[in-house]
Amino acid sequence: MDVKKAYVIFLGLGNVGRSLLRQILDTRDVLASRTGLRLIPIALADVSGLLLNPDGLPEETLRAALQATTDGNLLDALPGIRPLSEVGNALRAGAVLVDVTASPQTEPTLRAALDAGCSVVLANKIPLSGPWAEAREFFEHPHLRYEVTVGAGLPVIATLRYLLDTGDRVTAIEGCLSGTLGYLCAELERGVPYSVAVSQARSLGYTEPDPREDLSGRDVARKALILARTAGWPLEMADLSVEPLYPESLAGVSTEEFMAATPTLDEEYASRVAEAQAGGRTLRYVARVGPDGGEVGLVAVPQDSPLGALRGPANYIAFHTARYAEIPLVISGPGAGPEVTAAGVLGDVINLSATT
Ligand SMILES: NC(=O)c1ccc[n+]([C@@H]2O[C@H](COP(=O)([O-])OP(=O)(O)OC[C@H]3O[C@@H](n4cnc5c(N)ncnc54)[C@H](OP(=O)(O)O)[C@@H]3O)[C@@H](O)[C@H]2O)c1
Repeated sequence: MDVKKAYVIFLGLGNVGRSLLRQILDTRDVLASRTGLRLIPIALADVSGLLLNPDGLPEETLRAALQATTDGNLLDALPGIRPLSEVGNALRAGAVLVDVTASPQTEPTLRAALDAGCSVVLANKIPLSGPWAEAREFFEHPHLRYEVTVGAGLPVIATLRYLLDTGDRVTAIEGCLSGTLGYLCAELERGVPYSVAVSQARSLGYTEPDPREDLSGRDVARKALILARTAGWPLEMADLSVEPLYPESLAGVSTEEFMAATPTLDEEYASRVAEAQAGGRTLRYVARVGPDGGEVGLVAVPQDSPLGALRGPANYIAFHTARYAEIPLVISGPGAGPEVTAAGVLGDVINLSATT
């Protein structure tokens, strides 16, 4: 079989980026023999700089980068590091650039990559959830994929595209899109106080170091916006109403002050849980979008409904469409974790490399 080389550029070498690099190293021989496609990492970047070799970074350099970043170091701890501003030198037609950062600063590089004829794969939701006038190019570009931005490794975007491509009419999308908030709801349901549940989620690494990143609902709102825009509804963030799981008065304080203040919210959330349970319901953090807008927030759902039956951090996405009118098409399963997320990114990389 003829071997086709696919050059890969990494922006970000965090949890997902490292898992992706390991998966490429561990599976590329199998991939080459199965499909004739050979994945060759040519650049690795984090905030400290860039390792670049246009012919392919040697395996020992890739393994050293994995080790250094796993040990908590930045790439600039390694020899041969160049300034991040040189990333443009890595761009070449046919290469695939993966954005596995959570940074608002990669957008110019993404646009330069597309202009240079690269394909782009995003795990980063931020470029897709800004103003529509700026994000539109990313949604409409034939060489850009973003499967893992909603539901991580679950085939959510692929399913939505399949529905649209086969002429179905999507009328609404709803679901639980956050493993972290799923965990929180499950703990509240078990009678764990809000303050304890938030603190546990933080120490388990389920939340960002500042848990308000998750509790604000912003991340879920970004996912809802990505689903809406993929469905063909060019909504703006302002078209979504978002309920944060803390009061406005705690929005501006330091992380430590916020954590110290969480016990003041225990009673409020305990009574919301009790009120829901008295009516045979339970609280879930639900996103709903339709052609004209949507909402993201806590909803009391029947305990025996699919959303009520969700356990812990599982995700659930239901597509209501003209064909799936009575019973929605549902995708459910683990919606987070570096391994499944990296595999989803790898799937996009393989798909784009095979078709461009
Ligand atoms: N983890 C999951 O389960 C999951 C699921 C779905 C989607 N995602 C998304 O995947 C992305 C990565 O997640 P993660 O858990 O791997 O995050 P992470 O561990 O925080 O890693 C982010 C990486 O990006 C680097 N970075 C930041 N700004 C950069 C820039 N301008 N240029 C190059 N590199 C830059 C960071 O470098 P420094 O360390 O030097 O700052 C770090 O290596 C996020 O957008 C996340 O929302 C994650």
